[in-house]
Amino acid sequence: MLLAQISDLHLDGGERATHRATRVMEYLRALPRPVDALLVTGDIADHAAEAEYEEAARILAAPFPVLACPGNHDARPAYRKAFLGEAPGEGPVNRVHLIAGTAVLMCDSTIPGRDEGRLDTETLGWIDTTLGALPDGVPALIAFHQPPVELHHPLPDAGRLEEPELLAGLLDAHPRVVAVLTGHAHTAAASTFAGRPLLVGPAVTWTLRMPWEGADPADRDQPPGIAFHVLGEDRRLTTHFRVVL
Ligand SMILES: [Fe+2]
Ligand SMILES: [Fe+2]
Repeated sequence: MLLAQISDLHLDGGERATHRATRVMEYLRALPRPVDALLVTGDIADHAAEAEYEEAARILAAPFPVLACPGNHDARPAYRKAFLGEAPGEGPVNRVHLIAGTAVLMCDSTIPGRDEGRLDTETLGWIDTTLGALPDGVPALIAFHQPPVELHHPLPDAGRLEEPELLAGLLDAHPRVVAVLTGHAHTAAASTFAGRPLLVGPAVTWTLRMPWEGADPADRDQPPGIAFHVLGEDRRLTTHFRVVL
């Protein structure tokens, strides 16, 4: 199974964000072997305006499935209405998709009005029930916005996933989960969580400048990034990172 992941588009109606997201999608649509699905791990809109989601829906339209979850810059009612075309609602937006024999759980880790993340009781229950209902032998990937571990930069670390131990406990009970994928940090990063690979997708908008690279956290000169995740027959996840000029 071949997945692409993009994150943190921060579409704001401005030319820069539109151009970067459009370029990434042109690159993905032109691949000789289409991806089985594209994951978009949050901060799709910058101000959560309906017009930003309408633009996102236009830019992200693709001949392959596009799976998304909200980030801290998104707002559930506008995301549901203008991006998903559903009735607006305040509850978490959790979706499961079966892609090439693998369950991909796109989870809502947002706390309305805050930058930190949290998988609330409803979402944790949904993850548990969804994983438990899958047929034997079906592997699963879990994706959400805020990384559940320290990434060693004060900005994403201040807004990371709270109470990660609740998710770690769930993963202990569900060995079918092969990896955790997030966004939010605006830097392509690899770590581990609950004994699984944890991959943080790069941002389409600016890239996080690490403390050892300089003081200004937002590097706007770096090109947009993409992660390609390959899940092998042996359930090993291998990730390749790309930038799109
Ligand atoms: Fe972001
Ligand atoms: Fe974010």
